[in-house]
Amino acid sequence: MITIDIELESARYPVYVGRNGLVREELWAPHLGDGAVLVVSNDRVAPLYLDSLATGLGGRAFDVHVIPDGERHKTVTTWKGIIDKLVDMQARRDTQLIALGGGVVGDITGFAAAAYMRGVRFLQAPTTLLAQVDASVGGKTGVNHVRGKNLIGAFHQPASVVIDSATLDTLPKREFNAGMAEVVKYGAICDAPFFDWLEANADRIAARAGDAIDEMIRRSVENKARIVSQDEKESGVRALLNLGHSFGHALESETAYADFLHGEAVAIGMVTAAMLSEQRGLCSTGTAERIGALLGRFDLPVRIPAHLDLTRLAAALELDKKAVASGLRLVLLQDIGTAVIDRDSSAKNIMNAMENNRA
Ligand code: NAD
Ligand code: GLY
Repeated sequence: MITIDIELESARYPVYVGRNGLVREELWAPHLGDGAVLVVSNDRVAPLYLDSLATGLGGRAFDVHVIPDGERHKTVTTWKGIIDKLVDMQARRDTQLIALGGGVVGDITGFAAAAYMRGVRFLQAPTTLLAQVDASVGGKTGVNHVRGKNLIGAFHQPASVVIDSATLDTLPKREFNAGMAEVVKYGAICDAPFFDWLEANADRIAARAGDAIDEMIRRSVENKARIVSQDEKESGVRALLNLGHSFGHALESETAYADFLHGEAVAIGMVTAAMLSEQRGLCSTGTAERIGALLGRFDLPVRIPAHLDLTRLAAALELDKKAVASGLRLVLLQDIGTAVIDRDSSAKNIMNAMENNRA
């Protein structure tokens, strides 16, 4: 079992990475106090992994709240269901929540923990690759508003994160590959040797070789921890984690969240951002091609579909919440492993990059 220590201004906590962590009592017991425990999961993950978690909790009594599966349930209504459950349990300040599931379960449970009695302890047991390498670490919690993703939320750090990489055995390939987009992102923004390693190990990762998967998760979490520890509340460097996300969100909203998983849209967005970086002379020609080639090894889309209207996409970009009055703020690349926050791309630059990255 690998342990990564997250050290932030507001909190310190361990992230455990390895197969079968869910059942290991020694990973859970030290981070649970005496209060009641509420496990939150969804109707897909609970039947798969609740028993394993129960083993890890070592016979300790706990309550369970199962929410419906899917991003469309990441709402205030579902969040209120968790709060109602806590009230029904007469949960006190020493109550602790455990999120067992993907990023949706983690975000919503974390936000319930942030709000109940102004904040109670919560622990993360992420079961998708995306949640393991990104969503479970760093303390962003929240729910969607009908007019925008993640518009309601809070920063609330977990007390520990148990990444049981064996849970990936049941994750559908498309979901696994979507998580790979966020993994490739770490190499692209801040870790060139990791990018090289991903290129060299892509086949083993795609075949889900256990040692390669654990090393990949470890290196991803270490990169996220390094960035978040410098900027916990995203006033600066944490925004680099959004490489490809502005284009990605525009693609998701223009396709009504129906055509792409988040990671798929981010993959197209990263290549578009790299093309824009090349065009602007920030990085060398071939950077976008190299990123696209690596993403392609995980069957991720990298081109903007031909049927999408680029003018509408450009309009959606400006509505992205990362846009600010002083110019569209985009994460661009100076090289593989070096990202910058840039406000100097003109509308024409952006349109050209999108045209160049069209299928
Ligand atoms: P998800 O939680 O919807 O999970 C994807 C699907 O996989 C779901 O159907 C889920 O039930 C299923 N699943 C989960 N684990 C499984 C397993 N082991 N085996 C089989 N099926 C399994 O989606 P996601 O991609 O994990 O997360 C996306 C969410 O994460 C979005 O809401 C996004 O906003 C959020 N997010 C948050 C952060 C953050 O920093 N807090 C970062 C990135 C993304
Ligand atoms: N997923 C981006 C962040 O945690 O900041």
